[in-house]
Amino acid sequence: MTGDIKDPFDLLEDEINKEMETIYSRKTIEYAKNPLNVGRMNDPDGAAAVKGLCGDSMEIYLVIKDKIILDAKFFTDGCGVTYACGSAVTELVKGKTIDTVLTLSPKSIIDFLGGLTEENIHCSLLAINTLFKAVAEYLLKK
Ligand code: FES
Repeated sequence: MTGDIKDPFDLLEDEINKEMETIYSRKTIEYAKNPLNVGRMNDPDGAAAVKGLCGDSMEIYLVIKDKIILDAKFFTDGCGVTYACGSAVTELVKGKTIDTVLTLSPKSIIDFLGGLTEENIHCSLLAINTLFKAVAEYLLKK
């Protein structure tokens, strides 16, 4: 009988998740809760830190060999959506050439995440701006 009774905290979490899904895509929620590629690198080939219009910042670190991005990490002090955008941008660039990466846009992140709210579009812009600055830093070092 006890197996039928749900923990009140699980019920509350289900409730919150349902509410979140009316605002954010499943992928955005997933990456906000369990972000990918979070971290800093000691000796990256390209790196940048950018502060967004909202005051949040993002850092991106790239390992690049023969113009191909082999690894990417990000760090942010931003909101959950910023974590989702950082996860998306680092996933989108891994294994890609610099030329391909420079064709990405905030829309690439929005599409990857399955949509963003109007209020969070600037989070995707911050991720792309930081990526481009990290690539520029690599190109200027060459
Ligand atoms: Fe500003 Fe996410 S709320 S970057």
